[in-house]
Amino acid sequence: MDSFVIQGGVPLEGVLRVSGAKNSALPAMAACLLTAEPVTLHRIPSVRDIHTMRQLLELCGAAVVENGDTLRIEAGELATPEAPYELVKTMRASSLVLGPLVARCGRARVSLPGGCAIGARPINLHLAGLGQLGARIHQTHGYVEATAPQGLRGAMVPFDRITVTGTEDLLMAAVLAEGETVLSNAAREPEVADLAALLTKMGASIDGAGTSTIRVRGVQRLHGAEHTIIADRIEAGTFLMAGAITRGDVEIRGCVPEHLTAPILKMRQAGVEITETVPGSLRVRPGGKLVSVDAATEEYPGFATDLQAQYTALMTQAQGISIITETIFENRFMHALEMLRMGANIRIEARQAIVAGPTELSGAAVIASDLRASASLVLAALVARGETVIDRVYHIDRGYEKIEEKLEGAGARIQRIKSE
Ligand code: EPZ
Repeated sequence: MDSFVIQGGVPLEGVLRVSGAKNSALPAMAACLLTAEPVTLHRIPSVRDIHTMRQLLELCGAAVVENGDTLRIEAGELATPEAPYELVKTMRASSLVLGPLVARCGRARVSLPGGCAIGARPINLHLAGLGQLGARIHQTHGYVEATAPQGLRGAMVPFDRITVTGTEDLLMAAVLAEGETVLSNAAREPEVADLAALLTKMGASIDGAGTSTIRVRGVQRLHGAEHTIIADRIEAGTFLMAGAITRGDVEIRGCVPEHLTAPILKMRQAGVEITETVPGSLRVRPGGKLVSVDAATEEYPGFATDLQAQYTALMTQAQGISIITETIFENRFMHALEMLRMGANIRIEARQAIVAGPTELSGAAVIASDLRASASLVLAALVARGETVIDRVYHIDRGYEKIEEKLEGAGARIQRIKSE
């Protein structure tokens, strides 16, 4: 298992370029299962979850050709509409193939994901929605089998709570269902809208993606298309916080500032200067003194849970007490326990982290517990005195493309130590 060795205390300076969004690329790749014709996807980040999704598509029978950050996916025949446990256990987003497989093949067999480092994360809402579209759902031996030999039928699908991949899974199922489907209380994340844009290019008829009510008129078949994935707003947000925590001067290029409205607002309130230099570029600089500002995670357009850990790291350097509330996942404060070992003053009470700052962090040996927790430890290490060794960085490799190279390019002293 690789680790990062980081010498802290260097303000970042220079340019950080944002890759395509992992959480948009994953459903886009799954959507390629909906047609026998080739689909070309540009700006695919080279991260481990994408490689896992590629393996999954290939196991189902798709041919995938990679050329730089472009993937050409052709799902001509799908002999094995299955997602085995070996892949699902490494990536929960594997359940995104359920909707497209049952829509295209009339059957799918997908392993149920187990527990996860950040919360229970069941897929009951995906299954309930597919049931409403007429699929028969059967669970056995740790797998869910969904069948719809006569095809799916459009229906009203009200989600009990907002789910991002649940909305995406159902959207992909609905595009080939007979008649109209209305997804209500749907996720409004930009990744859902990006998926709808791809599906529309493939011939689907969708209204309202990006709002909480999505209407889909099913079509008989979809065709090939070409699409460029949106910028990764979580990577961009992580970079903004990296610039802010080191009191650096960094330009983040290739992002969509509107997708970052909530975290930018929080950071500005905390005293960070963020300006849009040219469209798609944000410059982050220290405005004045960094001060504490409370934050609570929410579904988009609220403050993203995927930036909560990084924001917690930032607040360890702010003057005062900040209360950070996690409303999406029940166990997403593992990073705080590692930050305590670096000298942070954080108390966890149920779903809240109470951070008192500023504290001088000192380098220590820490363990990455999940993707965004790892990113937050990198941020803490960048500002800590001395050397931090972050173990198990395979978590960060799931979702950040060459993060150590990018940060090094902006002056960070970070090195990957390869394990044997
Ligand atoms: C997506 O996960 C993202 N993953 C996550 O990104 C992100 O943290 C999360 O949305 C929230 O924004 C991808 O897009 C691939 P949810 P998802 O279904 O769809 C509960 C990262 O670091 N729920 O919106 O799995 C669930 O337990 C990650 O890149 C049910 O109860 O999240 C959670 O409490 C990790 N039943 C809440 O809803 C269900 O059937 C929201 O989860 C589905 C979800």
